[in-house]
Amino acid sequence: MSVVRTHHVRVHPLPHWLDAHRLLGVPGFVLEPLGDGFVSAQAQLPRAQAADVAARLRGLGFGGRRLCCELTPALDRSVVRGARTADARRRRDTSVGFSRAGTRLDAEGRYSLTPEGLALWLGEQAAGRSVLDCGCGAGGNAIGFARAGCRVIAVEQDAARLALAKHNALVYGVAERIEFVHGDALRVAAEQVADLLFVDPPWGGDYDHLSTMLQQLPLLEQLLPLRQRFAELWAKVPPSFDPSSVPDASARAVFGMAEGDASRVKFLWLQTVRRSG
Ligand SMILES: C[S@@+](CC[C@H](N)C(=O)[O-])C[C@H]1O[C@@H](n2cnc3c(N)ncnc32)[C@H](O)[C@@H]1O
Repeated sequence: MSVVRTHHVRVHPLPHWLDAHRLLGVPGFVLEPLGDGFVSAQAQLPRAQAADVAARLRGLGFGGRRLCCELTPALDRSVVRGARTADARRRRDTSVGFSRAGTRLDAEGRYSLTPEGLALWLGEQAAGRSVLDCGCGAGGNAIGFARAGCRVIAVEQDAARLALAKHNALVYGVAERIEFVHGDALRVAAEQVADLLFVDPPWGGDYDHLSTMLQQLPLLEQLLPLRQRFAELWAKVPPSFDPSSVPDASARAVFGMAEGDASRVKFLWLQTVRRSG
């Protein structure tokens, strides 16, 4: 009779705004509060599943804290290696950036592009309100908002990338809903009127996957004092960002849409609403 080897897996700390079951990706985890808005997750799992969870969560952090994944007993090295290789293979299947033929991107525009399906979903959450997109890059979010029926002012300081955004908006047939502005988003946000102030700040090519603080996202930090001019501020920030570094912000983890990234957090959607009075 063959004996199925199992491992006790404990993952912590997981912030309450994260769908922990989706992140963990396998059934059987039980959640327990840790205090401070964080939980831990525990399960007894067959070896292959335990190895898969450990490989997927390696080197990640959420809510500004490093994630720990403890396995008892520890896995053999060969099992760890196999799980990491399988994980690397799965990562190739990722949510699509732009799906339409004829779109154009430069290197930074490609790296920072919000996947088309997620940009459209975010646009739908805006429910037709007007949006000021501060730092529109090659247009991923601006096009998503416009496709969902919003009027958009899209600001970009890099003239060549702004031209790519205009071109891509034409490909998607939404250029007439977007006003493109070349310049500094801080100046434009101090002058323009819109319902939503949206910012997807540069994360930096090698952003910290364990913990990201507000100071590491200067465009967001500099725009925060202007948020009272708008009904809401929305930001797209790294999964490792600590939302408590932005006063009165709520966070939601947004997962991928492809099979290979359905259990991966692509970004945090940060929201703050204007205080009345
Ligand atoms: C992360 S990218 C935006 C990607 C975009 N949301 C998308 O999905 O395609 C951030 C952009 O902000 C621009 N940016 C940074 N600081 C800026 C500023 N002060 N004013 C205008 N644009 C700025 C950068 O040039 C970069 O293209």
